[in-house]
Formats: sequence, structure tokens, C-alpha cells
Amino acid sequence: MEDARPLLLFDSGIGGLSVLRAVRALLPDAPIVYVADNGGFPYGTKSEAEIAARVPALLGRLAERYKPRLICIACNTASTIALAGVRAALDLPVVGTVPAIKPAAALSRTRAIGVLGTDATVRQPYVDDLSARFASDCLVLRHGSARLVELAEASLRGQPTPDADYRTALDGLLEQDGGDRIDTIVLACTHFPLVADRLAAVAPRPLTFVDGAEGIARRIVVLTEGQDWPAAASAGVAVFTAPLDVPAGLRTTLARFALDRTETL
Ligand code: DGL
Repeated sequence: MEDARPLLLFDSGIGGLSVLRAVRALLPDAPIVYVADNGGFPYGTKSEAEIAARVPALLGRLAERYKPRLICIACNTASTIALAGVRAALDLPVVGTVPAIKPAAALSRTRAIGVLGTDATVRQPYVDDLSARFASDCLVLRHGSARLVELAEASLRGQPTPDADYRTALDGLLEQDGGDRIDTIVLACTHFPLVADRLAAVAPRPLTFVDGAEGIARRIVVLTEGQDWPAAASAGVAVFTAPLDVPAGLRTTLARFALDRTETL
């Protein structure tokens, strides 16, 4: 029998579209519910307690409403803080997003890597742990940028965003002690891969940018192996947690990701 249960991808805003892109490449027939918690945006400047309280409760409501087969927390901030809480609260597979420090360490020739995320993500013990396990022979520098999240949101609404602001975000890493050795940067916020071309364009030297989207998509494939998908790919829905008069630029972006309908939770 046809299984119409969707995959539910969740982020504070449009960042999770970078994960959706990778998921669609591997699972083109999967029905998609993409949730942007615009009512709670931004996450990166919030406290651990706020995120740990908000995210499991919200995902509980969303799971009840949309009956997904799997939830992907397409947000590093929510995952590094609330993944365990969400898994404890819900009885379905939950895939999180963690900073791609392991692949970055495998790629770096200079043994110096940067982790660019939100303020909340870069201060997590989870990042210490990943660095110790997978990059113990590397210098790992971190920088949190709330501005880069805003730039990605604006850019995907079709608004102009200045080069200088992208450069400032990069300099937050490159100008630290030892930052001149960095050759690889982990984009540890799902918003950032959406503006990776802008970061690359203003970089003072060639840098390799790494994110976890493909690994997440592969994990979802493994967890849904053997399951049926609807015969015809249905248009996805974008769900906002607070009323939003979706601006034309954002609507165009959502359509580019085959999210043709919008709803408010
Ligand atoms: N996209 C989110 C992340 O991956 C967070 C952005 C924000 O709300 O600050 O961390």
C-alpha cells in the first residue's frame, strides 16, 4: 500500500533548505513538510534552556499534526542542544545535524580548521567532543555569527546583502591567532551553505567549505530503506509557526525547493 507519510524537516528559518536540497537529490519522491520556526527565530542568540524547552514541545505538536515517518532537525543549534530531548519525547526516528568536524579534519592539509556557526552552537560541549574525537591533531577555531544567519535569510528573500558583511563573518575566524593557517571551514549552521558562494567570493584565499547535508540525506535513506513512497512526487508544504505574509522573494525561493504550499501551524 502507498505510504504517504512525509519526511518532516525542521529549522528556525530557511536554513534547513540546505539539507532539503541534499534529501531531494537522494529521495526525489519523498513527500516533504518543511517547518520554519519563524515564531522562535533566531535560535543562535537564545539560551540553552529556551531551546531545550521550545524544540521538543514544538516537534511534538508537529508530529501529531503531520504524522511524519521521520523528523530531521535541519538545524545545528537545535540539534546540538535538544536532540536528546526530542528523541526522548517522540516515538519516531529523529535525525539531527551536527557540525561536520570529522569530514573537515579529513580534508584539511594545514591541520587548521574553522567552525562557523551560531553563538549557541559554537559554545556547545558537543563541539569540544567532536574536536577531541575527530580533529585532535588540528587547531580548531570557532566563531559564532548571528549576522550571517540574517544575511542568508535576506539573501533567500531576494534582498541585496553586502560583500563586506560576509567578509566580516569570515574574518571572525581568519583573524584569530592561528587563523591564517585555516584551509577548511565547517559551515556549522544550516543557513550558511545557502550563501557559501558569497563566502567563497570574499575569501582572501581559497578555502574549502564543508557541511553535513549529504551525510544527513544518506542517513535518512538508510533509516527509510525498504519503505514505500507515493508513486507521484507531491509538492511539498512549508509550514511557519507564526503568521507570516510570505514575501514574493521568499515564495520564489520556496518554489525553487518545490515547496509550493505554505501553512501556519
Ligand atoms: N539554521 C540554524 C542552525 O543550523 C540556526 C539559525 C538561527 O536561528 O540562529 O544553527
